[in-house]
Amino acid sequence: MIKPEAVAAGHSGKIIDLILSNGFTIVALKYTRLSHEEAGTFYAVHKERPFYGELVEYMAGGPIIAAILEKSNAVEDFRKLIGATDPADAAEGTIRKQFAESKAKNAVHGSDSDENASIEGAFFFSTREQH
Ligand code: RTP
Ligand code: MG
Repeated sequence: MIKPEAVAAGHSGKIIDLILSNGFTIVALKYTRLSHEEAGTFYAVHKERPFYGELVEYMAGGPIIAAILEKSNAVEDFRKLIGATDPADAAEGTIRKQFAESKAKNAVHGSDSDENASIEGAFFFSTREQH
């Protein structure tokens, strides 16, 4: 997912270009917006964390771009490409190093396991939107 502040700042094209040039294939792609309820569901794993309310407000605060990506070792390689959660800790050349505003507003989301990638893909896309 390209998060709201990165979409609003006009970084979407450059981020998608980096994703493609790093060997990922797009299986599904969508420009959409999460309701507060949907953002809360998407990040339900963080419900007890102190930043949850702020995270839901932020993720519902503007349009996002959702994608399903394919690659061998995709989850690990994508997390390497996006970099650490806090851009201050993100490696040079990573998407977050280049485009994140802060630890909270950090430009992109990546799934943390194959299982969650399937759940999150199904959250955004029907099977006929995946190719
Ligand atoms: P994501 O799920 O979005 O790919 O990010 P992540 O795995 O790198 O980080 P995670 O621990 O899952 O946190 C989810 C998102 O919550 C926001 N956050 N804010 N203010 C804070 O201390 C804080 N910590 C996390 C970020 O937007 C983070 O990506
Ligand atoms: Mg996460």
